[in-house]
Amino acid sequence: MFFDEKIVAGLRGRDYIETNDWTDEELEVALELAADLKFKFRNGIPHRYLPDKTIFLLFFDKSTRTRNSFEAGATQLGAHAHFIDAETSQLAHGESPKDMGVILSSYGHAIAIRHDLVPGEGNTLMREVAKYAEVPVLNMQCDVDHPFQTLADLMTIREQFGRNLRGLKIAVSWAYAPSYAKPMSVPQGLIMLMTRFGLDVTLAHPPEWKLMPHTIEIAKKNAERLGTKFEIVDDMDAAFENADIVYPKSWGIEELFHKPEEALKLAANYKHWICDERRMKLAKKHAVYMHCLPADRGNEVTDEVIDGPQSIVYQEAENRLHTCKSVMTLTMS
Ligand code: CP
Repeated sequence: MFFDEKIVAGLRGRDYIETNDWTDEELEVALELAADLKFKFRNGIPHRYLPDKTIFLLFFDKSTRTRNSFEAGATQLGAHAHFIDAETSQLAHGESPKDMGVILSSYGHAIAIRHDLVPGEGNTLMREVAKYAEVPVLNMQCDVDHPFQTLADLMTIREQFGRNLRGLKIAVSWAYAPSYAKPMSVPQGLIMLMTRFGLDVTLAHPPEWKLMPHTIEIAKKNAERLGTKFEIVDDMDAAFENADIVYPKSWGIEELFHKPEEALKLAANYKHWICDERRMKLAKKHAVYMHCLPADRGNEVTDEVIDGPQSIVYQEAENRLHTCKSVMTLTMS
């Protein structure tokens, strides 16, 4: 497979904190390599591109897909992923991001961080670590973006619809969930990335569930610059109408992450924001249902939809492995 050597060289040692930090061309290389790695993994072709490398995975929040795609991915690349629960590290005693960045850089080859549940903190911490780290800092989900998820989503959408996504509509909608206040970073990451790669984006949420204003501005500017559409509505049905892709999921209210009971009480007014078969019929016949998972079954989505023929959630989750391995390979080589 041919890759532009200049772009590949420019990615060695680079951080991946937001998709916005990489150019379109750099993300294209990451997607191409992910497709190649998917082929190799499925066909049993060895691809030990990172022998003897170590990546530290620092988690301030729980995870199934992210932790396991990084750990399995590192093993398949010949590297080792070292899991660190933030609560059991000295960060819990107030150790500085600078000290952690400098010291972990001297032990290994990349630092990956998940810190997604406190608006205003995760992205700032990652950028602080990156200031002092001599190795790439990779964002496993923060308060602003989930760049490994949205890259896998873009890969999945292209597998489904082809490379040219012009004129296709994605509905990114809030949905009700009683489990916990989910981070805002997936919808924010989606509206910023998908407006950049040709999709028309309709964002839907009840009035209280606004996304961070700077992410809305970026989506608007992308749409203006590229001639894609970006609109915000407060009606889930309107968002689903004629959509090619629906991506309904829950997220929390920025001001209420520290008051979960209050947020949950408000959310109870919007239990009807569920992705069910009636709503799927509003979308185009060929429309696909996506969710980053975990999904609150019976609340965000019915079993009929998530287990039905339009759902591509497992393909989407699988692509987390391949995109993760691609970015590790490019940045850690
Ligand atoms: N989608 C996602 O990031 O899943 P996990 O929270 O399980 O890592």
